Amino acid sequence: MNENRIKALSGKDLRNILKMEDCIDSMGNAFAALYRREVDVPLRTAIDMEPDNGGALFMPVYSSSISRVGVKTVIINRDNPARGLPFIHAMVQIFDSSTGAPVALMDGEVITAMRTGAVSGLATKLLAKDNAKIAAIIGTGAQGETQLEGVCCVRDITTAYVFDLDIARAEDFAARMSKHLGIKVVVAQSSEQLTEADIICTSTSSTKPVFDDVYIKRGTHINGVGSYRPDMAEIPAQTLQRAKVVVDQRQGCLAEAGDLVQPIKEGIFSDEIIHGDLGEVVTGNIVAREDDEEVTVFKSVGIAVQDLVTADLALKLAESMGGGQEIIL
Ligand SMILES: NC(=O)c1ccc[n+]([C@@H]2O[C@H](COP(=O)([O-])OP(=O)(O)OC[C@H]3O[C@@H](n4cnc5c(N)ncnc54)[C@H](O)[C@@H]3O)[C@@H](O)[C@H]2O)c1
Repeated sequence: MNENRIKALSGKDLRNILKMEDCIDSMGNAFAALYRREVDVPLRTAIDMEPDNGGALFMPVYSSSISRVGVKTVIINRDNPARGLPFIHAMVQIFDSSTGAPVALMDGEVITAMRTGAVSGLATKLLAKDNAKIAAIIGTGAQGETQLEGVCCVRDITTAYVFDLDIARAEDFAARMSKHLGIKVVVAQSSEQLTEADIICTSTSSTKPVFDDVYIKRGTHINGVGSYRPDMAEIPAQTLQRAKVVVDQRQGCLAEAGDLVQPIKEGIFSDEIIHGDLGEVVTGNIVAREDDEEVTVFKSVGIAVQDLVTADLALKLAESMGGGQEIIL
């Protein structure tokens, strides 16, 4: 009987081996491959698990450019936080697409957080002002951490203001992240501090815009990752109307991102105003920022190829550095 040796990587293994700057480089290759149509990303499949008060999402992807095919499975359970268990469990499986052999199995939460930070890092590298110094993070959960890491990898950030409805969570975030990144990270005292920000990341679960357009100065770059359903929103329509808007993928964002779906429905924004996909910017097929006065927005809902390239990078690093465990199937 045929046996397959595969690598199993825990969240702890992944945190040890994955570096944000490497993830950002891999993300650039992934979006270029997506633009060249070397990636097949079918729509994700969802199962509603009402009797268990949860649901499951299966996100398949094939990339011929890295000879990998895989799937991320995310299981949501709404009763879990009250039981002291995570709201979401996730796992990524990848296979060698040239032989079909399974090659790795890994924790999906760390992969998700790293790839979501990396795509915002890539967008920031391409779209933010070169001399950006002040960042603001709205939403201080797991995504907020990697949003700040991604931004700090591509610009010389000196100060980050953080905002969260949960003040204790924001304070804890500020203490941990200032130590981790060696920059000043402070809980914002008022919305007015947003006027100082050159780069803003929104990573909340909000259903209403999380800032007012009056606080957004000219030249600001915004990464919006939180709203991934039509009923969710973080960015006000007034900001979108005056911004150069780049999306991770037009089809997904127009179907899922409430930030775009809601103002389009209300007739105050149009899909025709969207500047383009990140892959078009990465490959130089459309221009990025044109001057220091433009407001730029990068809106992402997440694409499975981000998980695939990040998992593939983790596997390569684990093979060269000797991390994780080998299991036989
Ligand atoms: N675009 C993507 O690829 C992608 C990937 C992963 C997660 N997400 C989404 O990003 C969001 C954040 O994920 P997370 O895992 O960090 O979640 P989380 O629930 O751990 O953290 C979200 C934080 O946002 C805060 N918040 C909610 N509404 C707010 C508001 N109006 N103003 C300020 N703070 C507010 C909450 O108090 C919480 O601390 C979720 O909606 C998640 O589904 C998107």
